[in-house]
Amino acid sequence: GVDMNDDMLSLARSYQSEMASRIGSDRVSFRKAHIQDLKLDLEVVDRYLTDHPVISSADLSRFDEWKSEQRNKAPLVADSSVDLVVSNCVLNLVEESDKRILLEEIFRVVRPGGRVAISDIVSDAPVPQRLKADPALWSGCISGALQEESFVNAFTEVGFQGVSLAKWDAKPWQTVEGLEFRSVTVTAYKGKGTECIDRGHAVIYRGPFSQVNDDDGHYYPRGQRIAVCERTFEALLDRYPENFIGIRPHGEVEPKMWCASAGTRRPASETRGGEHRSRESSGGCC
Ligand SMILES: C[S@@+](CC[C@H](N)C(=O)[O-])C[C@H]1O[C@@H](n2cnc3c(N)ncnc32)[C@H](O)[C@@H]1O
Repeated sequence: GVDMNDDMLSLARSYQSEMASRIGSDRVSFRKAHIQDLKLDLEVVDRYLTDHPVISSADLSRFDEWKSEQRNKAPLVADSSVDLVVSNCVLNLVEESDKRILLEEIFRVVRPGGRVAISDIVSDAPVPQRLKADPALWSGCISGALQEESFVNAFTEVGFQGVSLAKWDAKPWQTVEGLEFRSVTVTAYKGKGTECIDRGHAVIYRGPFSQVNDDDGHYYPRGQRIAVCERTFEALLDRYPENFIGIRPHGEVEPKMWCASAGTRRPASETRGGEHRSRESSGGCC
């Protein structure tokens, strides 16, 4: 768990042993950090500042250098080290200029193939500057809220895939000057980051829509055998077995770097006899 506030950390830690006995293992720790700077352990910073108070610009320069060194040599949360990031009602509290950095930071710490589930308050229209300047509305998780569309786009902009609105509260949490503020949850994946190698795989999008597009620029018309690289094949079938039928190549196919354009069809003759991956069990005659 990460929070920047000592009181909140104490509160969380005060329940730690009770929670450990309830779940049968003490595998949680609570760390002091800014969520937009997960490399810097603020408890280490506090200790440094006790020993090296900053009282001049020269001290400040030394402090800045020390922080950079800490981030590089002893990051609190290392790159690609987290399976799943969950957060509730924190993003809106982060300065507007830091919101993109925060999303990039979450992307940095999630391992390839890992996931996020981020809940926050969003607005149904952009929040006017006048409301943003109101400290009570800001600390009340209102005026720092992103507009709902920007919130979803923020995840794709930093590289997350399969970004979905897992929850969207129909009932607004609050309405301020006619703007509705509600709680939503976005879930998303970090891609595996492996190379795009063509090994002869294909997928068929089941429907019900006439076509779906993914964030990599691929599109899948309903019912068509579309050629995909192995990485895309695994991602689609692992994440969306309800929506896609996977068709593996028949026998060994010479692997080659992917170069076909999106929407390229895979002729049935290339995969006939191959192993098909489908949520239904095979064996019936129809
Ligand atoms: C509205 S509370 C939500 C707490 C908790 N997630 C929950 O659902 O009960 C917001 C928390 O975010 C923390 N917070 C706000 N900005 C932060 C930041 N930039 N980095 C780390 N924690 C932050 C605050 O200290 C506070 O504990």
